[in-house]
Amino acid sequence: MGRDARVEELLALGRECLLPVYRQREMILERGQGARVWDSEGREYVDFGAGIAVCALGHCDPELTAALAEQAGKLWHTSNVFYSEPPLRLAQELVAASRFAERAFLCNSGAEANEAAIKLVRRWAAAQGRAPERRVIVTFRGSFHGRTLAAVTATAQPKYQEGYEPLPGGFRYVDFNDVAQLETAMAGGDVAAVMLEPVQGEGGVMPAAPGYLQAVRALCDRFGALLVLDEIQCGMGRTGELFAHWRDGVAPDIVTLAKALGGGMPIGALLAGPKVAETMQFGAHGTTFGGNPLAAAVARVALRRLASDEIAANVARQERALRDGVDAINRDLDLFAEVRGRGLMLGAVLKPEHAGKAGAIGDLAAANGLLLLQAGPDVLRFVPALNIGDADVAEGLARLRGALADYLRRA
Ligand SMILES: Cc1ncc(COP(=O)(O)O)c(C=O)c1O
Repeated sequence: MGRDARVEELLALGRECLLPVYRQREMILERGQGARVWDSEGREYVDFGAGIAVCALGHCDPELTAALAEQAGKLWHTSNVFYSEPPLRLAQELVAASRFAERAFLCNSGAEANEAAIKLVRRWAAAQGRAPERRVIVTFRGSFHGRTLAAVTATAQPKYQEGYEPLPGGFRYVDFNDVAQLETAMAGGDVAAVMLEPVQGEGGVMPAAPGYLQAVRALCDRFGALLVLDEIQCGMGRTGELFAHWRDGVAPDIVTLAKALGGGMPIGALLAGPKVAETMQFGAHGTTFGGNPLAAAVARVALRRLASDEIAANVARQERALRDGVDAINRDLDLFAEVRGRGLMLGAVLKPEHAGKAGAIGDLAAANGLLLLQAGPDVLRFVPALNIGDADVAEGLARLRGALADYLRRA
């Protein structure tokens, strides 16, 4: 059957008018409800990607929609030259929920939150009288911290950096989950901060090993460095607790958030603990849109809901359902070496003989009515809405099975 003329036209616009930095699938998504999405030709999809771990309460959640509509009728934007209530309340609620932070800086995206964290670390080190060469930030191979020049330099993956040299200096990379390597990297006393994701997302859904964050905290204390946790993807309830690091019982100095924080509205945040809360003063940093009343009004509702016991219980329930479902598929089709991750941030790792095929499987998933992400070329990533129901998980798994069977038929 030929494609709708409007779809052809829109796809052509995508090819001709956008900078071709993405490779979108050939469909136009038009509306969503909960964990289902429909395209402009009426095809329905189960959404296991949630806009890359953003729509944590599903699409068009009624309470989020009402908060947005109510704020949209009152005040859209003030800039940070003036106060408005939603960002003030959001900052207060984030600080209270965090169990460690004293202040928040609101911004618009994950990269921007990490950029702020990097600048805050540098300012803190400068205020201590450390020379610029003693303000090193250690980050980890396989990490992802965003696409601004400093965030992409923190991202210790060459594929994101190539061609953007000269990169900013002052970063040092070590292997994730290797305590001895980190200790060696810090031994010279020139490290101002260690920055990591408690569960690496884009790098292949790789959780910090039990006890690792505690070991990193201890090294930071020993060498006088700050601990910066990037919870942009793994935070906001995704691992079954509001913050992924709670499981490890460590207190960070800085946490960055974005993605699910706004439930689909673009917003990011930096949370600053006691050591750094007073470091940046008037004029030290800023943004026009950060803490925009529309985004903040929605984020307040998202935060309350994502911090609830109900969400935590559903994350545990659906993690089990997804793991059991993928295991059952794997018993029949034998495609995956392991399923790793925490809560509703899971990665099914393709066996070596299927390495590099995650993108092709994603295409087949879409053809079978399932929106599925990859995390690198070898890992299928499951980051659905945290309130996804039993029926959607079961249907998504059935469609996944269909896609994987199609893949094997063609392989
Ligand atoms: C852990 C982590 N940090 C930072 C980012 C960058 O966020 P944004 O795309 O909103 O700039 C991402 C995005 O995938 C992420 O997963």
